[in-house]
This record gives sequence, structure tokens and C-alpha cells, in this order.
Amino acid sequence: MTALHIDASINGENSASRAISRSIVEQLGSVELVRRDLVSDPLPHLTLDAFADTSVLDEFMAADTVVIGAPMYNFTLPSQLKAWLDRILIAGKTFRYTENGPEGLAGGKRVIVALARGGFYDAGSPAAALEHLESYLRGIFNFIGIEPEFVAADGLNMGPEQRARSIEQALGNTTLLAA
Ligand SMILES: Cc1cc2nc3c(=O)[nH]c(=O)nc-3n(C[C@H](O)[C@H](O)[C@H](O)COP(=O)(O)O)c2cc1C
Repeated sequence: MTALHIDASINGENSASRAISRSIVEQLGSVELVRRDLVSDPLPHLTLDAFADTSVLDEFMAADTVVIGAPMYNFTLPSQLKAWLDRILIAGKTFRYTENGPEGLAGGKRVIVALARGGFYDAGSPAAALEHLESYLRGIFNFIGIEPEFVAADGLNMGPEQRARSIEQALGNTTLLAA
């Protein structure tokens, strides 16, 4: 069993998404762990030449479980994480187009995402229309045949008490992911 652990927060030790993704990985038990820190070791923006290098795609395809720390920056995902997604959304490898529409080819993996957001984006809330992190990641993983699971810490920029409460709650929720 191989797990790929990805982080994308620029906030180092103060990062909520890093703390939660680490906690998720701990729940996985004994796995062969592959680490990809997209901040200390960023991928360049996509170029046509980059399609020739399949190492990032191969690493993703080899993983049984993928754990992703995903902070919200400017209502969506960090560009570091987008650069990674640009390497794994590859026609003919992780999806294909058929007469009946697109078909995901990467099914059978478990993808667990640790979300960290400064505000609240619940359905019906004033900010809901600006939520392009969870909705985007769900859409893009569904597109390649995966139903991702989410552990979210919200309201992280709404005062120190709310922040501590949200992180504690999210860390507690990671224990529900075991197995
Ligand atoms: C550059 C930047 C942009 C941000 N943009 C948003 C935003 O659009 N909406 C939001 O709710 N929070 C926003 N935040 C707050 C972060 O989502 C929040 O601080 C979260 O804890 C970041 O995850 P991290 O702790 O893992 O770095 C932003 C933070 C940074 C650093």
C-alpha cells in the first residue's frame, strides 16, 4: 500500500492544512509513504515540453491513497497545487473522451483532501458563490473517476478562538478516516 502525501501551503509550521494532512497520513497506518511538498519543491508552470516528463503522473498513478493539504488562496487552490494537477490530468492516462462523453481512468484510488479556509462557505451563505476550492477539487477528481473525501477547517481567519476550535475539530475528524 503506497500513499502519496502532498502539501501546498506557504505557511510552514503555522499551516492548518499541513497539520491536518499530516494527521490524515498518521491514520493510514503502515504505508509506503511518498512525499511531495509543492512549496519547498515547486513544479514549474505547464509547458508543452513538460508533457514529455511523466514522473509526476507516474507517482500519482502508483499511489493507492493520495492525501492533499489544500489551503484556500484567493477563493481557490494555490497555483502550486494547480501546477501539480496540470501534470496529472492527462488525456488517455487519467481520462478519455468517448462518444458518450468523458470517462475517468484513475478510479480505485482513495483521495483525501485537508481543506483550510479563512472564512465560511456553507451552502446558502453569502460567500458560497466564491467557493472554488472544494468544488473545483471535487469536480476535477470526479472527472478522472475518483470521489474525493474532505476534512475541512473553516473560519481560520475569524479570530484565534475560532481558528483553534476549527483546527481541533478537523484533527478530531481525521480519526474517522481510518481504514
Ligand atoms: C495568500 C492568501 C490568500 C488567502 N485567500 C483567502 C480567501 O480567498 N478566502 C479565505 O477564506 N481565506 C483566504 N486565506 C486564508 C487561508 O485560507 C487560511 O489562512 C488558511 O489557514 C490557509 O491554510 P494554511 O494554514 O494551511 O496555510 C488566504 C490566505 C493567504 C495566505
